[in-house]
Amino acid sequence: MSTTILGIESSCDDTSAAVISDGILRSNVIAGQKVHEQFGGVVPELASRAHQQNILPVVSEALRQAGVTASDLDAVAFTRGPGLLGSLLVGTSFAKGMAIGLDIPTIDVNHLHGHVLSHFIKETEDQEVPEFPYICLLISGGNSQIILVRSPFDMEILGSTIDDAAGEAFDKCAKVMGLPYPGGPHIDRLATEGDADAFKFAKPHIPGFDYSFSGLKTSFLYTVRDNLKVEPDFIEKRKADLAASLQKTIIDILLDKLAKAVKETKVKAVAIGGGVSANSGVRKAIEVFCDNRRIKAWIPKRAFTTDNAAMVAIAGYFKFLKGEFCSLDMPPYSKVEV
Ligand code: KG4
Repeated sequence: MSTTILGIESSCDDTSAAVISDGILRSNVIAGQKVHEQFGGVVPELASRAHQQNILPVVSEALRQAGVTASDLDAVAFTRGPGLLGSLLVGTSFAKGMAIGLDIPTIDVNHLHGHVLSHFIKETEDQEVPEFPYICLLISGGNSQIILVRSPFDMEILGSTIDDAAGEAFDKCAKVMGLPYPGGPHIDRLATEGDADAFKFAKPHIPGFDYSFSGLKTSFLYTVRDNLKVEPDFIEKRKADLAASLQKTIIDILLDKLAKAVKETKVKAVAIGGGVSANSGVRKAIEVFCDNRRIKAWIPKRAFTTDNAAMVAIAGYFKFLKGEFCSLDMPPYSKVEV
């Protein structure tokens, strides 16, 4: 008998639904929200409303593409947090309503847990997945973490950012350059044409495996501000060099702590996840990092780096196999699990 799970993701500004049958991905539908572009960042109130408009068509399309009907589902998994509360409420309430209607269980998924498990999204039967233990570098708009993954449910956070996340460093510096939100992909594109050694930005000196990106952000801001005083078209003329140097510094900071963690834990594989793992410089640097150490690099497909329901469905599938369900009175949480 097959097991079919519907995953729903609505933690920020992407409405997504995916279907996984017996561990194999059957569909992954994502509707982005253009409404935020004009504001230079996600507007929570508008995000919730857009989720409300998108969720039914997105779920229907995911079922259609998977070739299943609602009555084929065994459980509905949904992102319970962390994220924007109004956005999470849409997905959570929809999942619960659907599960009640179908008389099937709901499964709550931690969004970050989903990102870490994105390497287990199989599109074919014979697709390889990581062996445990491995280190996951989770780099997104809200988090930068080094996680020791011992099993799908046994994860230890070795280090986290103490201020900004890597994605925030990309986005905030991009904003200084007048680039649209989110700035990460724009920096990525510009960096390919620039000299990565043109500018030197501050790197943190903090002990352990924790990250810090706020010093880099400040030094980037000062570099731009000081140069603008003498050269009004500084940003326009040097944007590729600024982007390349910024990207290189972020990668150096990420790899510095990762190297320490790999050395200490002696793991034989490193995986990356989260929106920033879409960055071409980061992807290349991780390949080289792992090649040099003769360990395996797990680089996710770009579609599974940013917010997607496939990762929610696979995390839900693992929980289903363990019989871990959630009660209908469990509320979503914005930051810390309640
Ligand atoms: O994982 P994600 O979609 O959202 C969170 O859960 O936080 O990550 C979004 C972040 C944004 O900061 C965005 O700028 C960054 O991922 N990002 C990138 C790239 N694509 C997305 N950063 C650098 N290069 C990219 N290609």
